[in-house]
Amino acid sequence: MSEETTEMTPTIEVNYADKIPNNVNLSEDRRLQRAMEKWQPEFIDWWKSMGPDGFQDADVYLRTAVGADPKGWAVFDYVKMPEYRWGILLAAKEEGRVIPFGKHKGEPAWQEVPGEYRSMLKRLIVIQGDTEPASVEQQRYLGKTCPSLYDLRNLFQVNVEEGRHLWAMAYLLQKYFGKDGREEAEALLNRRSGDADKPRILGAFNEKTPDWLSFFMFTFFTDRDGKMQLESLAQSGFDPLARTCRFMLTEEAHHMFVGESGVSRVIRKTLERMQEAGISDPNEVEAVRALGVVDLPTLQRKVNFHFSVTLDLFGAEVSTNAANAFNAGIKGRYREDRIEDDDHQLLNDTYPVLRYLDGELKVVEEPALNAINARLLDDYITDATAGVKRWNRLFEDSGVDFQITVPHKAFNRRVGEFCEVHVDPQGNLVSAEAWLAKRDEWLPTQADEDYLLSLMKPVTEKGKYADWIAPPKQGIDKKPGDFEYVALN
Ligand SMILES: [Fe+2]
Ligand SMILES: [Fe+2]
Repeated sequence: MSEETTEMTPTIEVNYADKIPNNVNLSEDRRLQRAMEKWQPEFIDWWKSMGPDGFQDADVYLRTAVGADPKGWAVFDYVKMPEYRWGILLAAKEEGRVIPFGKHKGEPAWQEVPGEYRSMLKRLIVIQGDTEPASVEQQRYLGKTCPSLYDLRNLFQVNVEEGRHLWAMAYLLQKYFGKDGREEAEALLNRRSGDADKPRILGAFNEKTPDWLSFFMFTFFTDRDGKMQLESLAQSGFDPLARTCRFMLTEEAHHMFVGESGVSRVIRKTLERMQEAGISDPNEVEAVRALGVVDLPTLQRKVNFHFSVTLDLFGAEVSTNAANAFNAGIKGRYREDRIEDDDHQLLNDTYPVLRYLDGELKVVEEPALNAINARLLDDYITDATAGVKRWNRLFEDSGVDFQITVPHKAFNRRVGEFCEVHVDPQGNLVSAEAWLAKRDEWLPTQADEDYLLSLMKPVTEKGKYADWIAPPKQGIDKKPGDFEYVALN
């Protein structure tokens, strides 16, 4: 995965003279402009109280989107995060675009909200929007234990871009959904990750991100759910949503890079220290931990946790809501425009879905319309598994016999088809007692978490890295190894 895609001279398409940078002619819509200008200080208040704790005055070397040209859309410079130019950016409009799927397939894409689908559309935008500030809240304290300035900068880059994604959804709500859209935009700033009274909408976004391995796992697995959802919404017949999501995807790629390369660097360091110490058995956990690096069984348990919790974000595998959204032309499949073997209406198609029926797990041909979520989940698993394979290449020639595996899709599920059953990581049904007896082999234990936390000592010297993680192969924006990515004032 390449580091950045921003070497080209950026095309400045965005009006930065406006209070709110945008490429949507905001100044021509006075009502919307007023609404957004009222929301902006509330957003800043939220950022200051729930964004990165203790770093609001730091100068951070960040990229800022300045255009929607895929060849060059960002510039890098030092910015204090509360002064980041969050704005409204949509991918370029495609003239003559038609609704690509569902019962309105072939009709002109909607430029306004179709009345009959208003509440469905609003709900989807609110759910997507809610995840964006949630992850910033989850990652609020990580800066205090950063393994390097490079990693600190990447964390903040992800955080400000999730902030911008929140802006993107708040824009759609305020522009297209009138008074209740404005209320929903405010509610996005008022829910809190993990809060008992006003939690974020989806489960994984109420979990803690207490350490940097969790952060890397989150950006690898959970931001990838974000990618899948955005890819599906980027196909929407509601054109403003499609264009918004298409631009968000350019930023999302970096988030997954942070996760994938972060875990790679953890593995590289562990293998390096094991080799130096002459340890080839990954199960010598105490000996490996004595070296001050992450042992591989713990890494596997973290994979099991983050993978299974993320699968829950896709909702029920067999779902009439998802069928309705597809049929309506509101939310498509992953890269709908590249699917060539059906009619994109799915009235007579089926899709194989693994279900729990009559006491066993079995594959059933379901009407494809009802299996939209199941299919997106499968596409996600394929995508995530490819990334895990890239990690596994690191073990080749290391002398350490180990492979990371993704658990079976029915393992440890709280939502959907398998929420009632106990399934081991290989996909075998087991009793509740048997599952519980093995739980600590499969999922992170308190002792694992305590050990990871014990490694989390901040390293903020230029060019230095914590002992449990290897340096990156390449700097951000081609900067040298000792570059000061964050100036801590
Ligand atoms: Fe996002
Ligand atoms: Fe993201």
